[in-house]
Amino acid sequence: MTSRTLFVTTALPYANGPFHIGHIMEYIQADIWVRFQRLTGAQIHFIGADDAHGAPIMLKAEKEGITPKQLIDRIAAERPKYLKGFHLSYDNWHTTDSPENVELSLDVYRKLKEAGLIYVKPVEQFFDPVKKMFLADRYIKGECPNCHSKDQYGDACEVCAKVYSPTDLIDPYSTLTGAKPVLKTSDHYFFKLSDPKCVAFLEKWLQDEGRLQPTVVNKAREWLRGTGDQKLGDWDISRDAPYFGIPIPDAPGKFFYVWLDAPIGYLASLKNYFESGKARANGETRPYEQFIAAPEVEQIHFIGKDIIYFHTLFWPAMLKFAGRKIPDNVYVHGFIQLGGSKMSKSRGTGLSPVRYLDLGMNPEWLRYY
Ligand code: 2FM
Ligand code: ZN
Repeated sequence: MTSRTLFVTTALPYANGPFHIGHIMEYIQADIWVRFQRLTGAQIHFIGADDAHGAPIMLKAEKEGITPKQLIDRIAAERPKYLKGFHLSYDNWHTTDSPENVELSLDVYRKLKEAGLIYVKPVEQFFDPVKKMFLADRYIKGECPNCHSKDQYGDACEVCAKVYSPTDLIDPYSTLTGAKPVLKTSDHYFFKLSDPKCVAFLEKWLQDEGRLQPTVVNKAREWLRGTGDQKLGDWDISRDAPYFGIPIPDAPGKFFYVWLDAPIGYLASLKNYFESGKARANGETRPYEQFIAAPEVEQIHFIGKDIIYFHTLFWPAMLKFAGRKIPDNVYVHGFIQLGGSKMSKSRGTGLSPVRYLDLGMNPEWLRYY
């Protein structure tokens, strides 16, 4: 019997803070699955990395008076303690802020462009005139247009649950400077997810038996087919400077949105694992490009339910139309809850994985649980 060859990943954590218990839960689930597959004789390449780009990391570093690179390096230095501490048997851990990821992201982008799936269109958005920066919804607050509660975020009201756009807020202000945001237009790059060839491909990918949990297929189909007046939109893949990310070629002042290069980070970490000689030490003698193009290699992602959209629509479509291997399975887990709500540090219901280790508790107890 020929044994399976598996490229397995867990979601890449943002490099702006330590692991929380939700990360560790996902990693333990995947690790148990991986160890079982190894016992059956499968050849496993279990890959992780830090998700290093994006505005929150840039702003956090700025607040601390350090560079984003210094921040992500500091976070990266803490990772081994947790990974070893909870007996997580990754074969490689890398970062999306790496030469491999820049190279692969540019390659994917260029292929998507050649496939006619990239276009540019002007977008009007709130801009902080003091910080001189476009504001994502989470950096805008104001009065809810529906129930008139104060200090509600730019996308939805936490009091009455109404969903709106930031321009609907009454007396909006920037959470970064307190300034009143102004509307400004800028060109954005889009990935044409709504292109009939993307939709047809995704319909087929979603329908393949055993690829996804049935509930996940249903949710992804709902987004793909649209409900009511909610139609499938194209994907805005660019952000304007200042931004910590990969510059878009021939587009001064424009960067790839972090979610474009984040999943490509799975491949970047795999490439780094091959080129550092670790894959060879693990019994894989093919070079990276040959391995990742081999039809029998299964690509398997473990993720949480909050990032299904990215992993069941954008990611397979990006790979497909960049001429690359598409994911075989995406296994989705829910959130750890306490009293019916998501466990959360800010609500005081968090459980610190590092404290668990520092107290000398046995990692196998948590793994077993
Ligand atoms: O939601 C998150 O925490 C993201 N950093 C996950 C990225 S997964 C992959 F696409 F990189
Ligand atoms: Zn409200």
